[in-house]
Amino acid sequence: MPESRCLQGIWSSPWIFIFAASGSAVGLGNIWRFPYVLGQNGGGAFLLVYCLCLLLVGLPVLMAEVALGRTVRSNPIDTVNDLSERRIVHPAWVFVPWLAGVTGFLILAFYSVIAGWSLAYLQRAISGDFMGISQSGASDMFNALLATPSEMLLWHSMFMLLVVITVGQSVTRGLSAVVRFLLPVLVVSLGLLAIYSVSVGDMPATLQFMFQWAWKDITFDVVLAAVGMALFSLSVGMGAMFAYGAYINKRMSIARACSIVVGVDLLVALLAGLVIFPLVFASQIDVQAGPSLTFVSLPLIFGNLFGGQFFASVFFLLLVVAALTSAISMLELFVAWLHERFYIARLKAAFLMGIVVWFIGIAVLLSFNQWDISIAFGLNFFELLDKVTSLILLPVGAILLSILVAWFIPHSMLQNEMITKNVNHFQWWYKVLKYISIPAMVVITLAGWIGV
Ligand code: PHE
Repeated sequence: MPESRCLQGIWSSPWIFIFAASGSAVGLGNIWRFPYVLGQNGGGAFLLVYCLCLLLVGLPVLMAEVALGRTVRSNPIDTVNDLSERRIVHPAWVFVPWLAGVTGFLILAFYSVIAGWSLAYLQRAISGDFMGISQSGASDMFNALLATPSEMLLWHSMFMLLVVITVGQSVTRGLSAVVRFLLPVLVVSLGLLAIYSVSVGDMPATLQFMFQWAWKDITFDVVLAAVGMALFSLSVGMGAMFAYGAYINKRMSIARACSIVVGVDLLVALLAGLVIFPLVFASQIDVQAGPSLTFVSLPLIFGNLFGGQFFASVFFLLLVVAALTSAISMLELFVAWLHERFYIARLKAAFLMGIVVWFIGIAVLLSFNQWDISIAFGLNFFELLDKVTSLILLPVGAILLSILVAWFIPHSMLQNEMITKNVNHFQWWYKVLKYISIPAMVVITLAGWIGV
């Protein structure tokens, strides 16, 4: 075992882990991505499939990643190295945490650009730019931002700087204190906004759209989108939860903690939907608008709300912090590895990684304007990165990590990690992971590739 393990400290209580893991899970994926993916995939049917995916794929895979993290209590790369030195797994498996780390790294490049939009909107909110805004004004404001690379660069750089500084500190200290405060405030604020939005917007249309479904709406594309969204939203397949799992103490029930994380994640996504859709249906905004949906509908809500300037500022601040607590978990794998393996100070390691991500981010932000040209398959750089990560790297990472846990880590070792008092619970998880989650991910991913 590497003697350097646990250099990062451990979460001081199970709740701190739950908060940190929820901080990783809850982010732009819930507030920005979930509503627009729901909009593009027909609403109710997607939501139903998404809930099933969270339960049958997301939760078991999340538990597998966290458990794997705790086995050796080192960073993901050294954990698999250690398992292979002890001849528990083949050395080739070390490829998997590398792949996961690179995926998180690439996702961060565009995540940071979108988080930069949130920062830009925070500044607009504070300046009162949303007040009295019309729908076309809100669309114009968003398009103007996309057309200005210099402004996007500024916010992307600021966000990356925040990420580097935060992840440069220890995640087991500082971070958890922030998330502990932030998460409840985020949930309550979203709840209040949802009440407001439902009362002024089109509630019947929202409820019908979000909660009604028909068999014919459950198409293969809906299932594909739901699996991808579930993995992304729970931060699995990218080594983030694997890295966080290393810092939990040995007495904690992984099943309980992970179930709470999934619940919080779903709750925030649903609340975001209830904030956005009543307004969308009450206005002329197209539900299928895609990535602009949140950024056009939110200013409209706030701009016409009493005290909107204040609420908008609070909301976008929360969104930025939620994005930050997710972003840092994407870098944690490599930062912890550089720190534990090469004794590079965390801040320096974060800086090294951050610079590379920052550069890739520049190509991403240019693809919304000056560099909006096809790189391959008719897609620009941003679209290509989004597709490669969400359709290939992310599911492959999740599948391989799950196979590693389900088929190669000894049963007894896992049972030790899971420490549920109830052996049946362990068996349930193990069987679902082996016979439902993994085959489902494999079939859906492959079918997606061959374009079924
Ligand atoms: N789960 C985060 C979100 O929903 C995104 C994320 C992906 C975070 C991968 C960490 C790792 O916004």
